[in-house]
Amino acid sequence: MNNASPSEQITSTGHKLSAGAHLDVHYLALKDEYDATLRAAGIRPGWSVLDAGAGNGVFLPLMAELLGAEGHIEALDLAQENVEAIEGLIASQQLACPIGTRTGDITALPYETGTFDAVWSANATQYLSDEDLTQAIKEFCRVVKPGGLVAVKEVDISVWQYQPQDPKLTWRLLDALSDDVQISGAMRGTRLSAWFRTAGLKNVTALTTLAERRQPLRPVEREYIRNNLEFLSGLARTCDLPEADHHQWKAIGEEPERLISNLDFCYREMWVLSLGIVSKC
Ligand SMILES: C[S@@+](CC[C@H](N)C(=O)[O-])C[C@H]1O[C@@H](n2cnc3c(N)ncnc32)[C@H](O)[C@@H]1O
Repeated sequence: MNNASPSEQITSTGHKLSAGAHLDVHYLALKDEYDATLRAAGIRPGWSVLDAGAGNGVFLPLMAELLGAEGHIEALDLAQENVEAIEGLIASQQLACPIGTRTGDITALPYETGTFDAVWSANATQYLSDEDLTQAIKEFCRVVKPGGLVAVKEVDISVWQYQPQDPKLTWRLLDALSDDVQISGAMRGTRLSAWFRTAGLKNVTALTTLAERRQPLRPVEREYIRNNLEFLSGLARTCDLPEADHHQWKAIGEEPERLISNLDFCYREMWVLSLGIVSKC
């Protein structure tokens, strides 16, 4: 039996905030900055690119446009239902380049060495332990040709803010969850470039994006922020926190709109795009 609450947006493989409905809302709420991040990766027309941990494929239409008709994408994800959603997307839309799909694990990629010009991975490495992250980056380096590009976009939720709510309320919750693999993985975005250098990647750079949303919020932004608050409120129930914090998280979970509708409401989310080149020797 699945005891997950709807706010967890969980996949069949047990990953929270990874169900297709949430991924659509997440992407649409932050589309301008997300598209700018993908453009900044430097993917070139005609390349062959692996989207590793592609989810339900929200980045694929723009990626295909950047690659053009001569390009090629392989989209891989662990969750079968997300791969099926990508297949539905490919069948229903005229995308700019051919796209293949695969169910698989980014820590053991089912591709030959040196297959791709680039790997793009967004919001997927947060689910990995430190050891599995090392293995995934090793795999990204293996499947990319020498001189090719590894591009990983990852959030750093230590910057999550829901002002005017006191940010320390969120910090105490994140601190209480520091043993949780996903939560600590979602606070690692800023440090990914160090992993890249350790893996032997060259010309390592990092580009940080701060996405901010203030009133008036679009409906999709409200929905995304509401999902996040309900998720955090659900996590708070499982943690050892001061009684006053439990009280606040319960109130937020029961009535997130009260906070979101505040005239001074301000949502902040930060992520880092880490880039590196696979060594030629
Ligand atoms: C938050 S979603 C992000 C999806 C997409 N890249 C995006 O940005 O919308 C995380 C995805 O990573 C996938 N995932 C998690 N661990 C994985 C693994 N070890 N191998 C492949 N995919 C994985 C999940 O199934 C989920 O679809």
